[in-house]
Formats: sequence, structure tokens, C-alpha cells
Amino acid sequence: MEHDALIDSFGRRITSLRISITGTCNLNCYYCHNEGQSRHRSQMSPEHIVNIIKTASKLGVKKVKFSGGEPLMRQDFEDILVSIPKFRNISATTNGVMLSKRAVSLKSAGLDRVNVSLDTLQPETYAKICQCNEDIHHMVLDGIQSAVHAGLTPVKLNMVMLKGVNEHELDDMMSFVRTFDRDVILQIIEPMDFGNYGGRVNVDAIERDLGSRASQVVERKMHRRKKYMVDGAEVEVVRPIDNSRFCAHCSRLRVTADGKLKPCLLVDDNLVDVSTAGIHELERLFYQAVNLRKPFYKG
Ligand code: 5AD
Repeated sequence: MEHDALIDSFGRRITSLRISITGTCNLNCYYCHNEGQSRHRSQMSPEHIVNIIKTASKLGVKKVKFSGGEPLMRQDFEDILVSIPKFRNISATTNGVMLSKRAVSLKSAGLDRVNVSLDTLQPETYAKICQCNEDIHHMVLDGIQSAVHAGLTPVKLNMVMLKGVNEHELDDMMSFVRTFDRDVILQIIEPMDFGNYGGRVNVDAIERDLGSRASQVVERKMHRRKKYMVDGAEVEVVRPIDNSRFCAHCSRLRVTADGKLKPCLLVDDNLVDVSTAGIHELERLFYQAVNLRKPFYKG
């Protein structure tokens, strides 16, 4: 059967599904928006997750990103991966703490690549941000190595720029990325204020600095993000705040850990509950959620 594409009333086509498979996390980073949800323990069965993803595939979604909480908290993540259909790209956002042991099995199960959250190269700073023991930092670095070796590449390092905390580490982070010879990309992220982020960083200044040093600047279609090549390091800048172009090009639909379709990260009153929906009902609910999509920041 042919299906109508998922296109919202603003002409935005949904090509990407971002699904949270657990609300729990083994870290407690102070700025974390937790995918716009309060922390909770409820999670979906692997079968239900697979049904949601199959529905997305039928309706033309090309990319799936698994998130959390921390997706590796689920021991059945590999089982989920082997049961889903083929996509252009299947990725996960992880804190990397438990990645070294699972990188190979995740790759064999069908995961294409990972984003690893790494805001700092300093164990002490890491411990402060993530409210954990300093030794954890080393586990994350091991996780990144393992992900590269397992071919979960390009590995993107998510560096949330935090005022007065890691702003001075941009160059160190670029040097670190260079050691992986194009297998690792740095992604600078402007923090969103969920009441806990500690003040605004000047991303304009960061972009100007990168722009002046870059041998090449490319604008990506997705979110109109800019990508800079600086002495062999690839750096992307993600600027969600007050960015109408970010919203105008948003192609994402989110699924919360407790099974709700979430049309926008920043809006909470338009969730569509699919937690008990059967495979046939899911399709209709996908269209319903897509119809509720509105750009948060308008041009
Ligand atoms: N602002 C921006 N990005 C955030 N993330 C989590 N909280 C925030 C926030 N307040 C993103 C980061 C992090 C990933 C787990 O989620 O990219 O690496």
C-alpha cells in the first residue's frame, strides 16, 4: 500500500525519528534537558519500540536516532537494533560511559554511528558537569576509541558550550578530534535554557573565530547548520536558540521514553500518546502528531 508522506501544515517533511528508549541515565549533567521530559522510569517494550520504528519507516522516515536518558542503560538495545527495518542512517546519542564494551555488538546489530557527549577534556571539569566521579571521564575516552575502531563513524562529539566552564577548551577539543583523522567530528552546541544552564554563551563570537580560521565553510541542509574545516578538524555548530531557520528546516519527530509522539522539543502540551497503540493505529497517530507540528521560533 502507498502511504502519504509525513508532511506538516508548514510544508516540513518528516524524515527523521528521534526515539528515547529509556528515561534513566547513569549521569546527572546539570544542563541536561532530558529530551524535554521530566525524569521517569517507565519505558516501552522492545516490541513496541520496533513497531513504532516500523511505522516510521513505512511513512517515509529515513533516519532514526536513539536517545535517552542513556540508551545504553538498556541491555536489549542490540535486540531492538536487529529487529528494525533498514534506514539510510541509524545512530544513537550516548554519554559513552558504557560504550567501550558494546561498540562492536552495536555495530554488528546495525547501528551506523554514535554521537558521544563530551563537553570537556578535563576529568575534573567533567566530574563537575556530570556530577560524577572523575574516573568516569576516562571511560568515555575509551568509549570513543572503541566506537572509532568498531566503525561507528563518523563519531560526533557533542560539546555543549557552557559559560565559564569549557568555553576555553575549543582549541584543545579540535586538537583531540584531529588525532582521529576525520573519523571524529566536533559538534559545538549552544545550550538551551531549561532553567539550569548557567547563562548564555556567545556563539556568534565562536562562529566568527571558526570562520576566520576555516579553510572551508559548508552550510548543511539540516537545520542550516554551518560546518567548518579548521586545519583538518571538522566542526559543526548547532544553534537552536531563537533560530527560525533551525525550526523552518526541522524534519524531526520525537518519541518520549514513555511512548508519546512529541512534535517539538520545546513544547509539552501537544503530545500524542502511542504507548498502548497497536501497529495499525500507530499510522493514524503519526499523522495526528505531524499535524500538530508548528515552528517554535517563527521567521
Ligand atoms: N542544551 C543543548 N543541548 C542539550 N543536550 C542536553 N541538554 C541540553 C541543553 N540544555 C544535548 C547535548 C548532549 C545530549 C545528550 O543532549 O547534545 O550531548
